[in-house]
This record gives sequence, structure tokens and C-alpha cells, in this order.
Amino acid sequence: MPVIAVIGAQWGDEGKGRVVDLLAEKADVVVRFSGGDNAGHTVINSYGESKLHIVPSGIFSPRAVCIIGNGAVVNPGALFKEIGMLNQKGVDTSRLYISDRAHVIMPYHILLDDLEETSCVDRAIGTTHKGIGPVFSDKIARRGIRIGDLLEKQAFREQLHFILEQKNLILTKIYGASPLLFEKIYEEYVEYGKRLSPYICETTAMLDEALRAGKLVLLEGAQGTLLDPDFGTYPYGTSSSSIAGGASIGSGISPNKITKVLGVFKAYCTRVGSGPMPTELKDETGDLIRERAHEYGATTGRPRRCGWFDAVAAHFSHRINGFTGMALTRFDILDTLPVIKICTGYKVDGKTINDFPASIAMLGKCVPVYEEFPGWRAATCDVRKFNDLPSAAKKYVKRLEELVGCPANLVCVGPAREQTIEKSPAI
Ligand code: IMP
Repeated sequence: MPVIAVIGAQWGDEGKGRVVDLLAEKADVVVRFSGGDNAGHTVINSYGESKLHIVPSGIFSPRAVCIIGNGAVVNPGALFKEIGMLNQKGVDTSRLYISDRAHVIMPYHILLDDLEETSCVDRAIGTTHKGIGPVFSDKIARRGIRIGDLLEKQAFREQLHFILEQKNLILTKIYGASPLLFEKIYEEYVEYGKRLSPYICETTAMLDEALRAGKLVLLEGAQGTLLDPDFGTYPYGTSSSSIAGGASIGSGISPNKITKVLGVFKAYCTRVGSGPMPTELKDETGDLIRERAHEYGATTGRPRRCGWFDAVAAHFSHRINGFTGMALTRFDILDTLPVIKICTGYKVDGKTINDFPASIAMLGKCVPVYEEFPGWRAATCDVRKFNDLPSAAKKYVKRLEELVGCPANLVCVGPAREQTIEKSPAI
């Protein structure tokens, strides 16, 4: 049975939740391997519309075991809120497990995220203010607190004491903020530890057992390749690995066990937060896409920047991830447009380039070179077979396949599970 990594191929919000929800009907295990509640995975199914931030999108499947992996970070308060929302809808969360190695988002992480962002006005990243940068910084600096630590009361007390002293110095001396109170945080997080204990386990052993039994495992990414700390538009990105390589690190599944990598692309591009986006449309077409697709952040409600499909960035994304196929989402959003464009190169300093630059200074100067396509101007939301799409729509998909360099497995023509064209098998 395959292990399939489902990866955001652009700047996040590509519809990974929707794709995972669909594939999870056949999956035995779904692992969220990176990020935290900065993510917003919108899923529409028989339970209505749900916005998931940290619980894997496989939770709606009655058979899939869902794991929050070691590579993810957990805000316990936000997690319990999400579990409560799911239970209220009648979704069974008893198959949810959390790696004892996942790091905990603490109150000082959220506070520092706020203070860092507001203190560097011109250079703000435009984060989600969920404490993501600070918690992953602490993980790498070996000052983090892991989920399993919450169960060891005395050791946790000493650890928190040591860390909070340092954090309070930063809060008071650098930012002039009030210090945080040790006892309050300690009591609150010990209590979280108690409530989390039924979910906490050594998830790599569970996964090993599942793989030995030939189970189908999905590795659910968060954010997107162009927000990855190594390959994204650094520093305008997130703080955990959102690429296929990160799926192995963030789950504890060996890279040689991952058999497929499904890249999730929107049929156009969006980005939320600061940083360059060469194909951004600051015009009526951009507004039209935003309103038609309701492109507002699922976590922060911020309007997303919208633009044409950037095949230079997409090809780079394929190089980094080695996609075996792609899921093209929100295809129906393009249905009304008279002309559709794909960016196939960039003009910069008098030259045309076809590679995605590492430097954001250079990316910021890139002017897109476009190929134009006539729009199909017909509703695709009821189409279920690729051959039934209007011919202009088929041409658009085929050109994207050529430019990205991998086949389209799925073309999504609406938010519901059944609004999916399976052009070639994704599993
Ligand atoms: P952070 O992950 O909250 O630190 O935010 C860093 C950057 O990543 C900001 O530009 C955010 O807007 C962006 N970002 C974080 N999570 C998501 C997501 O789930 N979708 C899209 N953008 C995201």
C-alpha cells in the first residue's frame, strides 16, 4: 500500500484539506506532519463546512486513525476548541493521537510573535500571530517544551522555570512588556497535560505497525512549498518544513517508504502575508477571483492576494518535491474569465529567466511573461469526467501538466467531495 504525501505546492491555501478529506475515504492513517494552528484547512462534507487548524483532515473518515506528528506544534487550548467543535458536529475524535515529540505552543510564543511583528512595522512577515516563529525557534535552539514533557510534572516545573526566566527578560528588557507569571502557566499546562494524556503516544511505533500491515498512510502537509524555510521566499515564509522532505522528518516515516507525492496547486495563485508574488493581480481580475473564490484566510480572515498561475514557481516546486502527480483545485473559479494567463518566465534586469530565484530582492523585480488562453466561459462544477470538460479547459490543464512536469491526477471543480474529476489515479 502506498504512503502518499499531500503537499502544498504554492503559497499555502491550495486546498490540501479538501484533497486529504477526499483521499481519507480510502486511507487507514492520516498524519499532519508540520505547522501548527497557523494553518486553516477548510473541508466541506456531510458534516457541513469545517475549518481545521491542527486536527488532520482525515478526521471525518470513520476508518482513518489521525495523528498529529512530531513535526507539528500544538496549542493545547486551540486543539481542545477544535475537538469540541468536531464533537459538537458528531465527528468521532477517539482515533486522534498526538506524538509525544510534538512541541507545545506556550503563551510566551504567541506574545513574542505579536511583539516581534508589531515592532518591525516595515519588515513584518505578516504572520498569523499564532506563535509559530517563536515555537520553532525554541525547538531548534533546544529551549522547547514537548507534549510528552507536560506529563512529567516535576521535570516540567524545572524546565518551565528555566525557560520562563529567559523569556521574561526578553519581554521586559527588550519589549518593555509585563512578565508572565510562572504558577499560572505551570498550572494551566499541567492541566492540559492531564487532558491530553489519552491522546499522547509514541506515534512512530504506530506508523511502523501500520506500514508493516500494508495500510494506506496519508501525510498531510500544511502551508506550501513557497513558504518553506529553505525553499520559500525567505524570510517571508513560515518556520517549519512544508515540502515532501519534511513529511518524512515530521512523521518519522523513512523517506524510502513514501511512494507518492501529490502536489496540490490552485488553478491560479494566492498568497496571504507579505513578500513578493510576481503574478499578483492588483486589478479587477484579481478582485473578481478573490470574491468569486472567497479568498479570505481561514485562520485570520485576511484577504488573499490573487494572481495568475505561476508556472516558473510551480516547476521549481516540482523540482523540490518530486511530485508524482498534482491535484488542481478551484478550477471552476476560472469558468467565467474571458482570458486566462499562465506565467512561463520572468523578465528581470533586461533578461528573461525561467528559474525561480532564491533572492526575494530579485523576485520582487521579476515581471511575468505570460501565455494567454481563451477562457471556456462555461460552468464546470457538474463535470465528472476529464473528456467532458470544454476543450479550452482541457487545453489549460494539459499546458499546466507540460509546464509543471507531472500529470494532473485530480481536477477539483467545486468544494464538495464529489466535485472531483479523477483524470488519473491519485492513489
Ligand atoms: P506564520 O506561519 O504564522 O509564522 O506566518 C508566516 C507566513 O506564512 C505569513 O505570510 C503567513 O500569512 C503565512 N502562512 C502561515 N500559515 C499559512 C497558511 O496556512 N496558509 C497560507 N499562508 C500561511
